[in-house]
Amino acid sequence: MEKTLVVYYSRKGYAEKAALQAAKDLNCDFLEIDTIENTAGYGGFFNCIKMSAGKKEAILFPYDTVISDYDKIIICSSVWMGDVAAPMKEFIKKERHNIKRAEYILLHGFPDSYENIPAELDKILRLKHEKFTSIQCGLGKFHKVQEFFPEK
Ligand SMILES: Cc1cc2nc3c(=O)[nH]c(=O)nc-3n(C[C@H](O)[C@H](O)[C@H](O)COP(=O)(O)O)c2cc1C
Repeated sequence: MEKTLVVYYSRKGYAEKAALQAAKDLNCDFLEIDTIENTAGYGGFFNCIKMSAGKKEAILFPYDTVISDYDKIIICSSVWMGDVAAPMKEFIKKERHNIKRAEYILLHGFPDSYENIPAELDKILRLKHEKFTSIQCGLGKFHKVQEFFPEK
């Protein structure tokens, strides 16, 4: 049977909600990743900006899950400064040789679909994603902007 893992990074809980729903729907494993850097409150927000701008490394807490054990990874993350959130970018770079197939779920505040991000992530992972879901969120609400299935 195909083994799928949902990996998520969530600062305030929106991406977590979407990730846990996906894992429940697929009845698959999930893994939360986080950075050791403070991301909470006003000071934390500036740390996020620094990490996004490459001025601070998004060092991750260690995790036990072996990514190469899975056939497919569903990457679920918020968008920071028009890119996937820095801790998730760090995870993707770190695990790029261990990810065989991928889907992306991106959560964002602005009403953009951020269709450019999947192509960037595909380049790092050297694969073509199988599905991309773009979800606008804020004030406790979710709005699925679109689901994209790229041509093979
Ligand atoms: C540092 C930072 C940068 C952000 N940049 C963007 C952005 O460029 N575009 C956007 O739509 N939302 C942006 N947001 C909003 C988040 O994407 C949105 O609040 C997020 O999806 C919340 O998910 P989370 O609580 O699971 O982290 C940014 C948020 C932070 C903290």
